[in-house]
Amino acid sequence: MMLHIEPKDVSVPEFHKLLLGGVAPRPIALVSTLSEDGKPNLSPFSFFNAFGVNPPIIAFSAARRGKDGSLKDTYNNLMQTKECVVQAVTYSMVEQISLASSEYPSDVDEFFKSGLTPIESDKVKPPRVKQSPFQMECILKDMISYGEGGGSANLAICEVVKLHVKKDIIKDGIIEPDLIDLVARMSANYYCRANGDSVFVVEKPGTSLGVGFDNIPEFIKISEIYSANDLAKFAGISKIPSSKEAFELKKNIEDERLKINLPLVETFFEYQVLNNYKHMLKLALTILQKDKKETKYLELTAKNALQNNDKKFAWKSALMVDQFK
Ligand SMILES: Cc1cc2nc3c(=O)[nH]c(=O)nc-3n(C[C@H](O)[C@H](O)[C@H](O)COP(=O)(O)O)c2cc1C
Repeated sequence: MMLHIEPKDVSVPEFHKLLLGGVAPRPIALVSTLSEDGKPNLSPFSFFNAFGVNPPIIAFSAARRGKDGSLKDTYNNLMQTKECVVQAVTYSMVEQISLASSEYPSDVDEFFKSGLTPIESDKVKPPRVKQSPFQMECILKDMISYGEGGGSANLAICEVVKLHVKKDIIKDGIIEPDLIDLVARMSANYYCRANGDSVFVVEKPGTSLGVGFDNIPEFIKISEIYSANDLAKFAGISKIPSSKEAFELKKNIEDERLKINLPLVETFFEYQVLNNYKHMLKLALTILQKDKKETKYLELTAKNALQNNDKKFAWKSALMVDQFK
């Protein structure tokens, strides 16, 4: 069952809770600013993203305070001085940035309260945060405000005029997720850490067009082995191998199959753990020689090939199912 909600029908805090549960995980901007008279301020904002690179534009929203609709120090400072430094937040500093989000009075420097270290910037006056491996010196281009009540947005659109990145987190020109170890904000007090098993690769479709779901044969679509993600990988191939090609692979493997003398099903699953889908196919075909109904082993082989991004092999294995009907 779906809930269908118009903002006008629920309270602002209720809508806030739901909205931020779905618009997540959000990157966190740790923003440092200076007041007109030079007092530093440091606060985290997860209404934040990058919107272009030429010129590099980022934006975040220092919304009006929920309790009384008042404006936050970051907003006031930006309106006065038009400068800020925005840094990425890593796992090693997440408790400190949470501390910096406390509503200290305007004259309190959150650098001292959070224990984070200010270092001089090159192009703007607000200091950078030493502990962050990714720091962007920014100039305010526009401030767009929507509403005057608690929680209303003040979208600070900024141009990045200088970027500082820790060299050690870059490999082959790419910032390695495990090395930067970013955190993001989710609903309520939930955060997530973008490293390890949470980070995975989705290959770009590239320039060649995939055949699409509509070209996947029905017997593949209705299989209980394949997930929607598996089907999308099948659909991403630009040319489906022919049944003849699938037959040829089957025949080649069958010639090798005769040499196998092992506990078949157990060995099949051992190869699955090793992601050795080529050996899985040998065993699947040997199992099928004994029982033609066991086509699920071909499907499991195809699924494993898909997981290892060998779409051609996956398609050929999947098409073989048809030859056992
Ligand atoms: C992880 C995190 C993300 C936050 N994101 C936002 C946000 O996007 N917008 C906002 O107005 N407040 C956000 N807050 C709350 C502000 O950090 C908090 O109101 C802060 O005290 C504002 O400080 P200032 O008045 O010194 O600018 C966030 C707090 C945390 C801990």
